[in-house]
Amino acid sequence: MAKRRVARGREEIREPWREPMALSDSNRQLRAQASERRAAEEMFRGLFESAPDAMVISREDGRIFLVNAQTEQLFGYARDELIGQPVEILIPERFRAGHVGHRAHYAVDPRTRPMGAGGLALFGRRRDGSEFPAAISLSPVRTREGVLVFTDIRDISAQQQTERRIRELNESLARRNAELEALNRELEAFSYSVSHDLRAPLRSIDGFSQALIEDYGDRLDAPAREFLQRVRAAAQRMAVLIDDLLKLARVTRTGLKLEEVDLSALAREVAAELREHDPDRPVELAIAPDLRATADPRLVRLVLENLLGNAWKFTRGRAPARIEFSAVTRDDSTAYCVRDNGAGFDMGYAGKLFGAFQRLHNASDYPGTGIGLATVQRIVHKHGGEVWAEGAVGQGASFCFTLRGGRS
Ligand SMILES: Nc1ncnc2c1ncn2[C@@H]1O[C@H](COP(=O)(O)OP(=O)(O)OP(=O)(O)O)[C@@H](O)[C@H]1O
Ligand SMILES: [Mg+2]
Repeated sequence: MAKRRVARGREEIREPWREPMALSDSNRQLRAQASERRAAEEMFRGLFESAPDAMVISREDGRIFLVNAQTEQLFGYARDELIGQPVEILIPERFRAGHVGHRAHYAVDPRTRPMGAGGLALFGRRRDGSEFPAAISLSPVRTREGVLVFTDIRDISAQQQTERRIRELNESLARRNAELEALNRELEAFSYSVSHDLRAPLRSIDGFSQALIEDYGDRLDAPAREFLQRVRAAAQRMAVLIDDLLKLARVTRTGLKLEEVDLSALAREVAAELREHDPDRPVELAIAPDLRATADPRLVRLVLENLLGNAWKFTRGRAPARIEFSAVTRDDSTAYCVRDNGAGFDMGYAGKLFGAFQRLHNASDYPGTGIGLATVQRIVHKHGGEVWAEGAVGQGASFCFTLRGGRS
């Protein structure tokens, strides 16, 4: 630095304070810069060492420059054994030659990117020769000494094992599902054909009993004719049961045709039919307006026919009989409910009601075969919904169901 002088008359007086000031300033600056760099370096080392993945820094020539503690742990080498070695030391022998080529290619166009793009499986090789599947990503950093490549290596054995386990579980679930579906189809076909085949002999039993009564009635005494009447009644009852079974089978066999359905309008139609069949009963019906759902209209009508039909039947003798159809929405799902103030039922049996031919009431008080709620449940499940019942003896009942857009 040129020394500055100030002219004062003839004498030249040096300004002694100027230079020491400038020096101490730049000294301070340098010291500050150095300590900043040290702090930055410490931070880098801290981050580098505490990184959860193995980190390897290599020079352009592919020789290892720096590794972190995770690298030592993952690969089983001490740091000193790696520094200065080609990075290929960390990959299985069979990939080494190819890797040198890749590396040269990378040096031409260094970009941050994951390795193994295109589905190539990557492996690391430990000091003892064992291998592990790895996720590897590369980031180039330009420095004064050239491009340094930061390689981040993660052992993904555990992740792959979990993925494999999930895949296996899914496959076994799918297999089980297919088996169950096949079994179900078999069962349905079986019950369908059995029901179907049983009809013909039943018709014979009923028909020939009738022929006996008509053609030979005068030669039979009264108890014999009574027995024959009982045979006919039993055969006819069995025919109804079989028809119901067939109806139930049909519900499961048909596919879903989903559309926007006005449940309120459907309920009003069903209620009108109930009144038409039983015009003398004073029943108060409250149907909430504008209840809509995505459902199969034919099947959801069957649900309402059964639930409203039950409510109608089990409120017999109530004055006034009250039936309500409404909806409650909770957590994004809407439950549709049919409530009545009829005979109710013992909640201890609530789970049984939905089984085929399960009845809690006397057939002479409340006629029926016990197939209605089984049908309701099948339809609701087909839609991906749930159905449940609440009630108390003598205090009415409520049946609620949800619909969730249907299962294929
Ligand atoms: N609203 C209700 N109040 C009280 N009990 C009911 C009600 N609905 C159903 N139940 C009970 O559940 C049983 C099963 O009902 P489900 O509809 O399956 O058969 P059902 O009505 O007896 O005969 P089906 O419907 O085949 O003509 C009934 O027999 C009855 O005991
Ligand atoms: Mg019923």
